Amino acid sequence: MTKTILCIGAGYVGGPTMAMIASKCTDYRVTVVDINPQRIAAWNSEDLPIYEPGLDDLIRATRGKNLFFSTDVEGGIRDNDIIFVSVNTPTKTFGAGAGMAADLQYWEKTARQILENAQSSKIVIEKSTLPVKTALAMERILNSQANDISFDVLSNPEFLAEGSAIRDLENPDRVLIGSRETDRGRQARNTILEIYARWIPRERILTTNIWSSELSKLVANAFLAQRISSINTISALCEKTEADVAEVARAVGMDSRIGAKFLNASVGFGGSCFKKDILNLVYLCRFYGLEEVADYWERVVGINVYQQERFIMSMLTAMFNTLAGKRICLLGFAFKANTGDTRESPAIFIARRLAEEHAEVVISDPKALGNARLDLAKIDGAFHYIEDPYEAAKGCHALAVMTEWDLYRTLDYEKIYEKMDKPAFIFDGRNILDHKRCFEIGFNVYPIGKPPLTHFEV
Ligand code: NAD
Ligand code: UGA
Repeated sequence: MTKTILCIGAGYVGGPTMAMIASKCTDYRVTVVDINPQRIAAWNSEDLPIYEPGLDDLIRATRGKNLFFSTDVEGGIRDNDIIFVSVNTPTKTFGAGAGMAADLQYWEKTARQILENAQSSKIVIEKSTLPVKTALAMERILNSQANDISFDVLSNPEFLAEGSAIRDLENPDRVLIGSRETDRGRQARNTILEIYARWIPRERILTTNIWSSELSKLVANAFLAQRISSINTISALCEKTEADVAEVARAVGMDSRIGAKFLNASVGFGGSCFKKDILNLVYLCRFYGLEEVADYWERVVGINVYQQERFIMSMLTAMFNTLAGKRICLLGFAFKANTGDTRESPAIFIARRLAEEHAEVVISDPKALGNARLDLAKIDGAFHYIEDPYEAAKGCHALAVMTEWDLYRTLDYEKIYEKMDKPAFIFDGRNILDHKRCFEIGFNVYPIGKPPLTHFEV
């Protein structure tokens, strides 16, 4: 008999994760369902709803064979006994905990839907990122009816990063599966473990108690974001002292106890999860009366806002304290390279603040212009969207690098300089350009955490 798997939620996690499982476990039939019919239609088309390197090939190899996308959530629940749930868990925008706590309404709706439609026992797996102890609420909802059907809830958080999702799924640092420490819990855990063990070495599949698993996901994101905020605070100090943040990061990161990754100073971190998950952690700490712990983690988000504000102030002061009427080109709008995702992108903050200064903003990005238009639709301002960076830069007073797309490293900056208003400025929010070369061309160059290179007399 073919084994079957359902995933509820066809987003950045559900789609790629299930495509990888389908490709590695060809004897499983994998169905991904979503309440959003447009999203499902896109998954079933040639124009997938998300851009992710390698995803098109993976979908082409599996879709219609053992991977299916559908809007039939109820049928999916009836027909599958292994159910991954990867619905969105955004920050709450209303009521108690607004702006901090996770909004669990989509999550709870899914639990109730599973309960209403299940005709046999199920293993329900939390794939979404959730506050610790959510599994308890899930168990209580699922086991609220007296019948023969039982539910085992597992936690199996996802650690993929966008832009490298397929590589991360194929070769993860670890897979984490948390369960109840009961016979049933362990049995359910083994069922899931068998799936991953098809392609992931056993020593990289970690099993823990369910609360450790839920909490580890929040903590991993908090630690990653903390490293970025830490190096960003140092970038501010470097700008005052003529130290170079890249040199400092290299010297510090070569200590094997510290490690070299995630020490790139930038205009700030973005993405749908870092801020949301840290605030979720902060909310949990306050809930348990751990005010000092909450304050500590909240500063990681505070520093990220500070860094973005610092970037705007640096543009403003460098450009003679007025941006009004100036045309400024944002190179990149995605929150990082190799994705079209713009959720919480620092570029949104920068574009909004530039508009508040009455600058005219030209947005350029190879993959994210569609999302940029949606993000800025509600903001008053003069925004233009031009994919070709050479066209985008024409007539501008300044370029600001928002995303570390490789393509921006190799542009012909001489050609760009010729078509710009003078004096021309570059604000490199990702430190990816050859600053010395840009300076020699004629630009006034403002990197992050390095001395600026300007043609003005001090
Ligand atoms: P997403 O918004 O891209 O996708 C979530 C999908 O769930 C949406 O398509 C939505 O329509 C669907 N949905 C919501 N309620 C539903 C319901 N009741 N029934 C069926 N479908 C429903 O979100 P995402 O980026 O894939 O993130 C999902 C979860 O995974 C979040 O908890 C997030 O924190 C976590 N996560 C995300 C990433 C990432 O890189 N994006 C990485 C690791 C973990
Ligand atoms: C992050 C984590 O890396 C994943 O492990 C996790 O699964 C995911 O969040 C999630 O839970 O959603 P993601 O947000 O996709 O992944 O991308 P990252 O590579 O972590 O980058 C996040 C942000 O930090 C980006 O804006 C990036 O440009 C920025 N960043 C990253 C820096 O500014 N400096 C760095 O050194 C590294």
